[in-house]
Amino acid sequence: MSKAATPRPVKKAVFPVAGLGTRFLPATKAMPKEMLTICDRPLIQHVVEEAREAGIEEFIFITGRHKELLEEHFDLQHELEDTLEARGKSALLKKVQDATFPAGKLILTRQPKPLGLGHAVWCAARIIGNEPFAVLLPDVLMKGQHSCLKEMVDTYNKTGGNLIAVEEVPRAETKNYGIIDTKDQTLEIMPVDGLVEKPEPEKAPSTLSVVGRYIFQPELFEYLSAFETGAGGEIQLTDAMAKLIGKQPFNAVRYNGKSYDCGSRLGFVEANIAYGLDDPEIGDGVRALLKRYT
Ligand code: G1P
Repeated sequence: MSKAATPRPVKKAVFPVAGLGTRFLPATKAMPKEMLTICDRPLIQHVVEEAREAGIEEFIFITGRHKELLEEHFDLQHELEDTLEARGKSALLKKVQDATFPAGKLILTRQPKPLGLGHAVWCAARIIGNEPFAVLLPDVLMKGQHSCLKEMVDTYNKTGGNLIAVEEVPRAETKNYGIIDTKDQTLEIMPVDGLVEKPEPEKAPSTLSVVGRYIFQPELFEYLSAFETGAGGEIQLTDAMAKLIGKQPFNAVRYNGKSYDCGSRLGFVEANIAYGLDDPEIGDGVRALLKRYT
């Protein structure tokens, strides 16, 4: 891409939501893990709102068996709306309407087998077509003044290419994440020289982890469609990403906020505290509770 060219806008986002949620059993025995609630809304809604704030217009869920509740959540619940309206509950009505997709905005496709995150993203290939797109992992909530994806889109509009969000992790934890290699970690926009999925601490090229927010060019699908397996015997998104390096711009940025790994029970509790403290209705109550328990 020449320097003067404006990058093509990011209007579509992929939400891989087919995962089993084993870390939350038995809560997730029948309920999708993405429906676990942080404060007053399910994880998936937090992440959809982040994408909406970034200007995303089409929302692609990669679902699987027993995930129907996710589409129900965003559907028009007209009986509920009529009842709230008749009772004059306008604030609640607005909350319900905010959790509803207008016609044509939610697109669902299934990943029949849990073959890995790379395979899940590949399932969206035909829906994405030849456009740049975002991927958001609903296990991770990004909380800050601005939506994480919005900050990334602002950067992408200057850099084009591929862009991921990263954050520092303790070296002992590199084996839980995708880890980047980059020459100068002080840069605001860090060119990515390499990517490794879940390296052992002694083999990790850095301690900057991939946090689950991505902007990609559609050429990623060429590499995903090789269906090569990597770490854990799964088709890894990170491996296909690594193949784009050197062929297209590939940068990493830090988010001006904090991430919450809601795929872990401790992260989930922490997120509930953080979002609860910020809630205008219950924030003071949460603060008082915390004092009582510490
Ligand atoms: C996935 C990605 C990994 C990334 C992580 C962020 O791993 O494969 O690169 O760092 O999400 O949460 P998972 O947590 O699905 O094992």
